[in-house]
Amino acid sequence: MMSITELLYKKRFGGELTSEEIRAFVQGVTKGEFADYQVSAMLMAIAINGMSARETVDLTMEMAQSGDMLDLSPISGVKVDKHSTGGVGDTTSLVLVPLLAACGVKVAKMSGRGLGFTGGTLDKLESIPGVSISMDTDRFMKVVDESGLAIIGQTAQLAPCDKVLYALRDVTSTVDVMPLIVSSILSKKLASGADVIVLDVKTGSGAMMTTVDKAMELAKTMVDIGNRTGRRFAALVTDMNQPLGRYVGNALEVEEAIDILSGRTQGELKEVSLQLGAQILRLSGKAKDAKEGYKLLSDALDRGEGLKKLAEMVKNQGGDSRAVYDTSLLPKADKTEELPSPRAGFISKIHTNMIGYAAKALGAGREKKEDPIDPAAGLIMRVRLGDFVEKGQSLATLMEGSLSRTEEAKKLLLDAIELGDAPVEKPQLIYGVIE
Ligand code: URA
Ligand code: CA
Repeated sequence: MMSITELLYKKRFGGELTSEEIRAFVQGVTKGEFADYQVSAMLMAIAINGMSARETVDLTMEMAQSGDMLDLSPISGVKVDKHSTGGVGDTTSLVLVPLLAACGVKVAKMSGRGLGFTGGTLDKLESIPGVSISMDTDRFMKVVDESGLAIIGQTAQLAPCDKVLYALRDVTSTVDVMPLIVSSILSKKLASGADVIVLDVKTGSGAMMTTVDKAMELAKTMVDIGNRTGRRFAALVTDMNQPLGRYVGNALEVEEAIDILSGRTQGELKEVSLQLGAQILRLSGKAKDAKEGYKLLSDALDRGEGLKKLAEMVKNQGGDSRAVYDTSLLPKADKTEELPSPRAGFISKIHTNMIGYAAKALGAGREKKEDPIDPAAGLIMRVRLGDFVEKGQSLATLMEGSLSRTEEAKKLLLDAIELGDAPVEKPQLIYGVIE
C-alpha cells in the first residue's frame, strides 16, 4: 500500500500518477482514510500541476466506481442522458426529456437539487402536485423501459468520492480546476449508466465559465475524456448572459416547459433544448445527423407527443397529470408585482447570477440544503438583452410568497439589469458544438 505522502510528493513535483496510485487515492478518500489536509494538499497539487488526459480518465473512472454503478441493461434500447453545467431559467431537461422519450430513446435520469442561484430539476418537478422523485431501482427500470422516461433523485451512493472532494474544493479554492471539474461531472454521469450523454456547457454572466474560451476548453476536454471511457459524448457551448427562459422559479419553470411543449412559447429555451436533443438522437443512431434529429424532435413537439410524455411521467411519479394540460393547477404566488424600469434605454447587460439570487430572495432557491423553498415563488423576466424600454415599463414580474424578501430581490434586479443609451447586439445563442 503506497502512502498518501508519497503520492503528494509525486504530484507536488508534477509527476504523473499511475492508474494504481489514482485508485489508491480515490479509494482512500472514499473510505475516509486520509485527513482533510492531505486530500486538500492533493487537490492543490493537481490545481497547480494539472493532470494528463490519462490521469483524468483514470480519476473519472475510479470516482464513478467509488459507489454504485447503475446497470441500465434491463432497459431495452439506447439509454441517454444530458447534463447542464448550470444556469438561470435553464429548464432544458423538462422540455427535452419528454421529447426524447417520444422519439424512442430511453431517459433514466438522476438529478440533483439546486443550491446557490440555480434551481435543480428535482425542485422543479416536486412543484407539480403529488410528484415524487424517489423510486426503488426495480420500478425505475421498469417505468423507463415501458414509458421511456423517469427523473429521480441521485442516491447517496452515486460517486461518493465526489461528495468528499467537492466539499474540500469548495473551501480550498480548487473548484475551477479543469481535471477536477471534468472528473466530478463525468463520474456522476458514468455512474448513472447512460450510453449517450450530451453536455450543455454554459458561458456568460450566469455560468461557472464566464468566458467562451474557458467554456469551449471545458466542453472539448469533457467530450475527449468522456469518449475515452467508452460512452458516446457530445457538447454544446451555450449562452448564459441572460436567463435562458423567461421564467425563473420552480413551478414557473415547469409552466414554461409546458408552454413550450404545448407550442405556445418559442424562444431560446426551446432552441437550446432541441439542439441538445438533436445531438442525442444523432449519437443514438436515431437520426443520421443533428439536422434530422432536430426535425424529429420538432415534429414530435408539434404533434403534442412531448406534452403527452410529460403527463405520463408525472402520472408514473405519483403526480396530478392534469396540471400538464392546465397550468392553473400548478402552485400560484400569493402576490405579483411589476418592477418598473427607472429610466428609458437599451438593456445593455444582465448580471444573470444576480437574477438567480433575486429569485432565491423571493423564495425560489436555497442557501443550505435543508432550507425551505416556495414552489410558486420566482420572477418572470420582461426584457431581453438589446431590448429598448421606456421609463416605467416592467423589467420583471415578481412572484411573491411568505418566504419572499421582496425589497432585497428588487434591489438585486435593479443592479442586475443595466440600461444604456446605445443599441447593443443580442448575444449569440450557441457558441460551439463539439461532436
Ligand atoms: N458541477 C459538478 O458536479 N462538479 C463540478 O466540479 C462543477 C460543477
Ligand atoms: Ca402559461
